[in-house]
Amino acid sequence: MASSIARTIFRGVTQGSTTNFLRTAAISGVQQSSYSTGKSYDNILVETAGEKNNVGLIRLNRPKALNALCNALFDDLEDALNDMEKNPEIGCIILTGSEKAFAAGADIKEMQNNQFAEVLGGGFLNHWNVITKCSKPTIAAVNGYALGGGCEVAMMCDIIYAGEKARFGQPEILLGTIPGAGGTQRLPRAVGKSKAMEMCLTGDQITADEALKFGLVANVFPVDTLLDEVVKKASKIAGQSKLISQICKESINKGYNMSLDDACHFEKRLFHASFATEDRKEGMTAFVEKRKAEFKDK
Ligand code: CAA
Repeated sequence: MASSIARTIFRGVTQGSTTNFLRTAAISGVQQSSYSTGKSYDNILVETAGEKNNVGLIRLNRPKALNALCNALFDDLEDALNDMEKNPEIGCIILTGSEKAFAAGADIKEMQNNQFAEVLGGGFLNHWNVITKCSKPTIAAVNGYALGGGCEVAMMCDIIYAGEKARFGQPEILLGTIPGAGGTQRLPRAVGKSKAMEMCLTGDQITADEALKFGLVANVFPVDTLLDEVVKKASKIAGQSKLISQICKESINKGYNMSLDDACHFEKRLFHASFATEDRKEGMTAFVEKRKAEFKDK
């Protein structure tokens, strides 16, 4: 047990600042997912999860402000994501919040008095892109409010799963501004132009079921089992070749912004490139030999 816990400590974590313990979530009497704490931060909680502790779990943790996304939170997030990028054990990263709020948006109190020159000159919100730069698959597990920047952060992730009571919205119009972290761009690509226009121009929220219907989320789960269901999916993703997952993710995300012809050409080249990997050989050999593939991420 001690050695398996030790393996879960993120690289770069100093022994002194780390309290590691293992806890097991018991859902309906069935032990499903393990969680192990990592480095400590002011605005997020960082753990590893899954039976093999190969899932990185980041919980946004500003409960009094409904996880409003202040600069300090993004500094924490950037540091944690960079640690997870460097950690070869981690094969998938989950971003989640609380049952009440994934995140209620950018911190309105923090930006209330910002001026044009400083937001432009200072590149306000530019560092939020740290999520989209992550090479490992990312999943947003959304319970409660995902509004404004909260919805945008969820959409920066590769997959969104929602709890039944989740609410998605881009209410910036009600504040006299517009979405500034991808809301007017990723939302139409996810739900179609008409619904995105309606959401951005009225500020109206949609429910988890509507988000599923419009293709914003991949699935909806009961509130209290959402995280365990997502950890199960993330563990499955983390159990594949991490090298090939990275290539697959890149093919989808890059191709999404290209013409179909260019995207299919790009995909073909990446597919060809997979033949340069040991994991491609292992995957096909394992199939032929009727055994489970053992990927080495090479
Ligand atoms: N920024 C800062 N503080 C926020 C916040 C935000 N985005 N959202 C909520 N809070 C704070 C509230 O001010 C309140 O703090 P106090 O107790 O100190 O007053 C606390 O969180 C709890 O909030 P409420 O009392 O409002 O809780 P509620 O349950 O009545 O309502 C809510 C919940 C509907 C989410 C409501 O809080 C709300 O509308 N929040 C703002 C949502 C929003 O407009 N988001 C967009 C932000 S702009 C943006 O994100 C730009 C971008 O594109 C990047």
